[in-house]
Amino acid sequence: MNIHKEKQLVNVVDRKLITKLLVFAKPYWKKILLAFFLASIFVVANLAQPYLIKVAIDDYLTVQTSVEESFQGFVMIGVLFLFTIFLTSSMTYLQEKLLQFTGQSIIFDIRQKIFRHLASMHMQFFDRNPVGRIVTRVTHDTEALNQLYSQVIVNLVKEVLILIGIVFILLQMSVELTLLSFTVIPILVILVFYYKRLIRDAHRYTRLLLSRLNSNLAENLNGIGIIQFFTRERKQLHQFDHLNNEHYRAGMRGTILNSIFNPAIGFLGNIALAIIIWYGGRGVMDSALTFGVVYAFTHYIRQFFQPLMAIADKYNQIQTAMASSERIFDMLDEKPQINDSPNAKNFPNKIDGKIQFHNVSFAYQPDEYVLKDISFQINSGETVGFVGATGAGKSSIINLINRFYDIQKGTIFIDGYDIKQVKVEDVRRRIGVIQQDPFIFTGDVLYNIRLHHEHISEEEIIKLAKSIGIHDFISSLPKGYQTLLGEQGVTLSSGQKQLISFLRALAFDPDVLILDEATANIDTETEELVQQALHYLSHGRTTIIVAHRLSTIKHADNIIVMDKGEIRETGNHEELLKQRGIYHHLYELQNKEAIDTKNMSYSSS
Ligand SMILES: Nc1ncnc2c1ncn2[C@@H]1O[C@H](COP(=O)(O)OP(=O)(O)OP(=O)(O)O)[C@@H](O)[C@H]1O
Ligand SMILES: [Mg+2]
Repeated sequence: MNIHKEKQLVNVVDRKLITKLLVFAKPYWKKILLAFFLASIFVVANLAQPYLIKVAIDDYLTVQTSVEESFQGFVMIGVLFLFTIFLTSSMTYLQEKLLQFTGQSIIFDIRQKIFRHLASMHMQFFDRNPVGRIVTRVTHDTEALNQLYSQVIVNLVKEVLILIGIVFILLQMSVELTLLSFTVIPILVILVFYYKRLIRDAHRYTRLLLSRLNSNLAENLNGIGIIQFFTRERKQLHQFDHLNNEHYRAGMRGTILNSIFNPAIGFLGNIALAIIIWYGGRGVMDSALTFGVVYAFTHYIRQFFQPLMAIADKYNQIQTAMASSERIFDMLDEKPQINDSPNAKNFPNKIDGKIQFHNVSFAYQPDEYVLKDISFQINSGETVGFVGATGAGKSSIINLINRFYDIQKGTIFIDGYDIKQVKVEDVRRRIGVIQQDPFIFTGDVLYNIRLHHEHISEEEIIKLAKSIGIHDFISSLPKGYQTLLGEQGVTLSSGQKQLISFLRALAFDPDVLILDEATANIDTETEELVQQALHYLSHGRTTIIVAHRLSTIKHADNIIVMDKGEIRETGNHEELLKQRGIYHHLYELQNKEAIDTKNMSYSSS
């Protein structure tokens, strides 16, 4: 399956989808019903206007009446006309506001629901769905739904009512003239819908190209250093030009379509008018029709186009909104896979932190095992190091202890409990993880340490920072503990990020501490801080360290050496060196490197 493939179109009348959509609208059904009511008042008032003029012409202008009678009639009709104008504008205003409010409320509900749902999802879901796509769901797709609720549905009903109303009034005035002018209408309907479809496809294609253009641009700008480094500017420019050119041509096609169809539709409309005037004019002279009827006909026929075009537009909007809503519901329908089992137990408030892996095999993708039949035991209070080449499966083991993924074979025990039989939240609350590349949120240092647990006081945090020796580092930031971090703030190096996340983990006082050491090189000073902090942190609690620098785990109680998803060697530092296996080899390599860098700095000075 291609994870970048998107669903484009769905059947407009998909019953299940409509039912789901109605569920979101249900809390607001009174408001929506009121909007329908306001819309129908609008339709009546709107359609009454040409008819009032017709009455004025036929009853008071062309018929012989006394001046006084005519005057009274005109005043009355004038007042009525003003009243209809007042009604149409006020109803439109009220209905629009009402629906906008409702639409916003519904969208708020949907976004909230999506966010809650996402927060509960298993990791595999995020592996499969790129962040960009999820963001589109929450922002763009919900916006399409908003349009559906606030603009499309009620207005669609309004326009259909107008069309029906016009046909009804026309038939009532003159069946003959109606049938005659309607010889043009079917052609018009077909033309309008055909045109709208062409335009829609053109727009879609342009949008698709635009998004490609965007990502091409973003990629090029992000990788500008590499592009210039490898002198690939000309080649990249060529690629961009090609896309840009295609986008330009797609845009032109849309413009040309517009310039052909708009006059064509106008032309057909004029033909209908000509027929009315020609036939109606003869009717007036033969006294078969009144002048007012012919006037009203021209007016109504011209009014006929507007809702017709609007309906064709709405049809497309509905299709887009339906596709959006289907994508949203697909996402909401996906159930979280990591759940508490029906009789899941609670952990006690404090656990010993004994961890056992019993013949554990695990695969992210079906049948592609990244951990193969792994067994080990970590005793309470021990410090254990994991080492191995990149991709060996070290971080995967950590993901499993946290139950971010469920295993296919074997059992994982914490304090003798099978972790599948314990509440997920309990497992994660007792384990503190310092990730390979810790995430820093937008906010100050304190916020990044507390993460909404406001009950941890600033004094306590400072005390902890001092105890693990990183108070000086934080104080050296521009505003100390109040320094803004993240996108709009100070950028930290990956070693510095780990120091912050040390404090984050410590503030929650976990029973098991896991550190996935940063792969990126960190300077000697930061490394010293990390070592020192780690020494304090590991004291008296089970500690698991995934180490890239072997110096980090030299003093560990036990070291597990991994290769390609299997355990190859175990023992402490001295024992492993004696074995002269993988660990010994790694150690030699790192020592040699260290000596090399030293020599280099000697020779350069
Ligand atoms: N989310 C994921 N989905 C699919 N495969 C994954 C995922 N994460 C890791 N893998 C694969 O699992 C294997 C083990 O990866 P893991 O991250 O555990 O290695 P590691 O030992 O931590 O490596 P490093 O030292 O580079 O951090 C690799 O082959 C990797 O490609
Ligand atoms: Mg890793």
